[in-house]
Amino acid sequence: MSDTLPAAVSAASSLEHKLTTRTARAGVIGLGYVGLPLAVEFARAGFETTGVDLDARKIETLNRGESYIPDVPTADVAEFHKAGRLRATTDASVIASFDTINICVPTPLRKTKDPDLSYVVSAVEMIARHLQPGQLVVLESTTYPGTTDEVVKPILERGGLVAGRDFFLAFSPERVDPGNQTWTTKNVPKVVGGTTADCTRLARILYSASIDRVVEVSSPKVAEMVKLLENTFRAVNIGLVNELALMCDRLGISVWEVVDAAATKPFGFMPFYPGPGLGGHCIPIDPFYLSWKVKEVGFEARFIELAGHVNGAMPHHVVDKVADALNSQSKAVRGSKILILGIAYKRDIDDIRESPALDVMAVLKQRGGHLSYHDPYAPHLAARDWPAGVDMASVPLTTQTLAAADCVVIITDHKTFNHQEILTHAPLIVDTRNALKGSWPHVFKLGAP
Ligand SMILES: NC(=O)c1ccc[n+]([C@@H]2O[C@H](COP(=O)([O-])OP(=O)(O)OC[C@H]3O[C@@H](n4cnc5c(N)ncnc54)[C@H](O)[C@@H]3O)[C@@H](O)[C@H]2O)c1
Repeated sequence: MSDTLPAAVSAASSLEHKLTTRTARAGVIGLGYVGLPLAVEFARAGFETTGVDLDARKIETLNRGESYIPDVPTADVAEFHKAGRLRATTDASVIASFDTINICVPTPLRKTKDPDLSYVVSAVEMIARHLQPGQLVVLESTTYPGTTDEVVKPILERGGLVAGRDFFLAFSPERVDPGNQTWTTKNVPKVVGGTTADCTRLARILYSASIDRVVEVSSPKVAEMVKLLENTFRAVNIGLVNELALMCDRLGISVWEVVDAAATKPFGFMPFYPGPGLGGHCIPIDPFYLSWKVKEVGFEARFIELAGHVNGAMPHHVVDKVADALNSQSKAVRGSKILILGIAYKRDIDDIRESPALDVMAVLKQRGGHLSYHDPYAPHLAARDWPAGVDMASVPLTTQTLAAADCVVIITDHKTFNHQEILTHAPLIVDTRNALKGSWPHVFKLGAP
């Protein structure tokens, strides 16, 4: 489709005018870890912004002027809500009034590790029912290359409007890093790739209003692949260093000392650290979107599969470490009191999705361990959220709870943990994060003697 068709030219220049004068009405579909920070940045830039989500509790919270995402201050939500620039609704019919529509819905994996695009498809079908000429639709959910062109575009075009001519379509991967105070939605560069040059340009203009740097690429497919390269890069390097940790374990070398010393090389090396396994909504999942897609063209993504095996086995190595530690005190896993510290998938955040702590706990429970956990960010663990399927509640972290445990296992090293207190009062410790610097006879570290 040519970018120079008259209809496209007038629709594009009209939207460009609205974007540059901040009179465009921005819509965000899916107000989770990605969508809410984005909606707040659009509101901050001056756009009248409306979020649409199926979750009525989120909508009610936002419409009270409150945030439910730790990285988004309630003060910002309150300010923009009061100013009439940030609203939220479950009513999809508002989509017809938007000039721009950003889709930030989940893209999980099925149990078979195949992509589950059902959230994207249902959000796009919802948009298609209300699509208007001149609107810009941007998919942000992480997905395999080709999704925007092969899945999103045909659904949106069902009503007769054509992408690049009557409405505009692009992909722009989200790079949010929950808990990162330095790199935020505003200052992490944003990659955009549109179906036509106009689509790319309009998406760039939208994001430039609220994000410091926007990087254009030639197509949605390239933008989709950029995100998968970034996350596969991390999954593979974490897999490498996790395997190195297992080698170090056998060889009696501290992998932590090795990585820190290697990181002094000023070029050609980037430190990755071992741990109890991958967690969160991105690194354990996204690479499999790519390996699934390339199977269609007869290609086997060997690095991705291998990293998946190594990283996926880490929780079992942690369980073995716990068994070794207890064994050193002539105890068995069965019947021992095991206190897990930190169940979120990374430090100082409240997200437990895919957290390796849950796998470690499930296996320890299955082997007869008496489990408890402490996590200030996750006061409750619902039965449906982990494989062992029982409700649990965080216990207070006191000298008594530490002393009462046969083994304390540090899975996620939140900043609130008092290392000295843990060292002094816990009789036996398994440290999967090198949280406790130095070595002590009662501390067993992953990847260290
Ligand atoms: N969380 C991260 O750190 C992160 C980082 C980069 C990219 N991503 C990607 O961004 C996307 C969103 O992730 P997230 O962490 O924000 O997910 P999330 O689960 O926190 O939020 C998604 C929201 O979408 C809503 N939703 C689902 N279907 C909907 C529909 N049809 N209409 C309206 N709302 C709907 C859900 O109710 C939920 O509030 C995923 O593709 C993820 O891979 C996430």
